[in-house]
Amino acid sequence: MILYKDIIKEDDQRLYQKSKEVEIPLTDEDIKLLHDLNEYLENGYNDELVKELEIRPGVGLASVQIGVLKRIFVIYAYNEKGELFHFGVVNPKIISESTELTFLPTGEGCLSVDRDVEGLVHRPKRITAKFHKYDFKTKKLEEVTMKFENYIAIVFQHEYDHLNGIMFMDRIDKINPFFVPENSKPILFAGEDTEE
Ligand code: NI
Repeated sequence: MILYKDIIKEDDQRLYQKSKEVEIPLTDEDIKLLHDLNEYLENGYNDELVKELEIRPGVGLASVQIGVLKRIFVIYAYNEKGELFHFGVVNPKIISESTELTFLPTGEGCLSVDRDVEGLVHRPKRITAKFHKYDFKTKKLEEVTMKFENYIAIVFQHEYDHLNGIMFMDRIDKINPFFVPENSKPILFAGEDTEE
């Protein structure tokens, strides 16, 4: 079982490397990896387990964050309307993105970053991504093209960045961390934790 201490932190150079595509169909090892990542996020929604296992809850977790450089991540997140997005993502490609941007007013967080980082991350508000989607209930993998917007688009792009060795801090304006471009609007979201 993955615990918070197993998640590599920002001083680990693996977080700045590009992860490798995995072969389809998935090996048993890759399927187990997906289930392990999912279990961590799932445990984060269980208050008792959070205390007992000293888990820091998150809404997304990439394979590289446990030191395995594969193009795999899991999203387990509710959007700003309270709808659940829960699936594994394998070999994703973002094939289009809007010029309109969005951001979380409180900034982003990351399970690999154990401190508060000041500043805003602006990302395309809408994206279209092509990937192999893993369903944890049916254990089936299917190739899909999906559109995401607002909060889920942010979560997807944050995890996608991990596969390319990019951390959210890298996307904060160095000179003016709280600068808001004209084409960027905040997400209106009443959620609590927004850690990826
Ligand atoms: Ni992260």
